[in-house]
Amino acid sequence: MEPRNILAIDFGTTNTYFSKCPADQISPVGIDFGTGRDGLPTAILYRGDREPLVGEPALHEYGEASDGERSQYRLRTQFKPDIVSSDDAAHAAADFLRVVVQQAQRQHIALDPGKHDVIIGVPSEAHGPFQTKISQIAAEAGYGDVRLVDEPKGALLHHLWHKDFSPEEARRGILVIDFGGGTCDFAFLQSLQVSHSWGDMELGGRLFDDLFFQWLLEQNPGVLKAMEKAGDTYYVHSYLCREVKEFFSLTMARDRTEKVNKSVGRYGSLRGMDWDGFLERAKSYLPSPTFVLQMESMRVRAERILQRQKSMDLIDWFRTTLAHGLTEKAVATDQISRVILAGGSSQWPFVPDVVTETLGIDRSHLMRSDRPYAVISQGLAILPALQKNFEQTREKLRRDLPRFCQAQVRPLAERVTESYVTGVAADVTSELFDRTIRPIVEEFREKGGAVKTLRESIAAQVKANESKLRAILEKRMHTLQRGLPGELNELLRNWFESYGLSVGEKPIAEAQRGVIGQEIVQPDTPDLYSGIMDTVGWFVVALATAVGASISGGGGMALVAAGPAGWIAGAVIGAVVAFLAVRYGMSRAKELADTWNAPAWIVKNVLLPSRIARMRGDFQCRLKETLQRETKALQDELESRIRQVTEKQIEGLSEVAQL
Ligand SMILES: Nc1ncnc2c1ncn2[C@@H]1O[C@H](COP(=O)(O)OP(=O)(O)OP(=O)(O)O)[C@@H](O)[C@H]1O
Ligand SMILES: [Mg+2]
Repeated sequence: MEPRNILAIDFGTTNTYFSKCPADQISPVGIDFGTGRDGLPTAILYRGDREPLVGEPALHEYGEASDGERSQYRLRTQFKPDIVSSDDAAHAAADFLRVVVQQAQRQHIALDPGKHDVIIGVPSEAHGPFQTKISQIAAEAGYGDVRLVDEPKGALLHHLWHKDFSPEEARRGILVIDFGGGTCDFAFLQSLQVSHSWGDMELGGRLFDDLFFQWLLEQNPGVLKAMEKAGDTYYVHSYLCREVKEFFSLTMARDRTEKVNKSVGRYGSLRGMDWDGFLERAKSYLPSPTFVLQMESMRVRAERILQRQKSMDLIDWFRTTLAHGLTEKAVATDQISRVILAGGSSQWPFVPDVVTETLGIDRSHLMRSDRPYAVISQGLAILPALQKNFEQTREKLRRDLPRFCQAQVRPLAERVTESYVTGVAADVTSELFDRTIRPIVEEFREKGGAVKTLRESIAAQVKANESKLRAILEKRMHTLQRGLPGELNELLRNWFESYGLSVGEKPIAEAQRGVIGQEIVQPDTPDLYSGIMDTVGWFVVALATAVGASISGGGGMALVAAGPAGWIAGAVIGAVVAFLAVRYGMSRAKELADTWNAPAWIVKNVLLPSRIARMRGDFQCRLKETLQRETKALQDELESRIRQVTEKQIEGLSEVAQL
């Protein structure tokens, strides 16, 4: 059977979002019900014999209705949390979902659950009974047999698709904060599965709407009466004041020193709103009688709000909900590698502040889409297409990895090792040959003597200069350490990108942070980089050790015995043997050569300046060859480690494919 297109629903307490996406193509579209915003309020208005209204029209109609009309109406909102315990809530949910489709069809919005595979998000705290119930409700509302997926996974998938982190990183600890209109949910995901979740069913954006409502009343005495008289209170509270709030919040996100003015329909205006004024009100917030009445009339269960006993600190409420959950669920902050901010209220500029302070993590680890309220439904909608896509990509990566290693990683490793070795050989030649060995050889040429003594004094000088050799290695090592990670990172990043995958680029994200305003939450880097850093760290140390050992050996004598000191002595001995052979014959000459005290005139004749110059070239060349031999195995090992880092990324893809 042809895979059908996907319809994903983020059925929220306050708002519900619908997104569509083809099954084989990652291109989600949010459904706009004509308000210019994504989604619609989760609200249904029963109007006696007339057909119910849902979404914005329901709230509006109820808000504008006269007392007489209202007595005929029944508005139901925020029913989602109660669908298991209350039949009434379950009916409201089913009616809501059904009427949304009818209303959409009348508006010629293509929304036909019958023609789609339907995915519905469920809160991660929700257990069996909730899931059973929501499935029943969906079936009853005409959505067929729906697939349920944890809401926070939607947010995670959305950011994964946007390449805000790599699949491999998505396997590690990711905290999803969904701060919506009515609730605030936290979920900690590992290996793309929710391992802990918690939240607060009363802490949501509507409390802030109420804060602004009270601010409005404070600045415009008498306005409440006028509102009540006109039957506009609900509308002003939940709609106009929400707009004021969002405008204020967006302004503050840009610049907290601004002062904001905004008119509120025909009910006057709010003037001179500033961050301090907001903080002061948020610190000692008490729900307004209007708000409490509204909640009661909608039969919303929210003890802390309805009791209205002592004032509360809204920002601290958010902070403690986060902190207590972490403690209670024993989630260590160092397990959290990324934080996704979802839900409309996560746009409050205090949210990133509180999160970074509480978790002690850097702002660059937070990410938030520019439409954080829509990420869950969009992420759910792309799930099948993303899975398919990742499945294919994973196969391709697996297939192409050996060729990539062969054609790109290996040449890089070779080039890097080669340039390290060449550099070390050049430095050592000038330090050791020019400054140390050449003067000894020249003195030997002037004075003559035994080759054995020559060898020993070169050996002693080499040993005396060991610390200089070490300094050369270290200097070269630092250069390597600075350059190599970037090169490897770029190589891998380009390779992954050629498959449409992201692996980020840490150094750039770090650098940008200072420049961009502090409110801007940066999506950044996956952790490929730390895998590369580990590998490079290992490689550089191993390279330096191998090179160091072949120059000065474990006890500092290898070079002396078999290395450069031996090569020089060998060259001199050859000439001496040639001279002695004339008198003693070849084999005797060889025996004598090492200890024979050669007179200066003979040495002068065999050790011509041109020969010393050749010795230098020979010295450098043989040094390089030795080092190359020693480091060959390391190139293979580097390649294989990079292969492992890459395999890990590919594994990350497998987990997405298995969601
Ligand atoms: N820029 C903004 N600053 C602060 N709050 C905002 C901003 N934009 C939207 N909001 C608020 O976000 C809330 C809506 O968020 P969202 O649609 O994610 O909630 P929801 O999913 O329906 O609610 P819940 O998750 O609680 O069931 C509203 O209170 C809205 O006013
Ligand atoms: Mg929500």
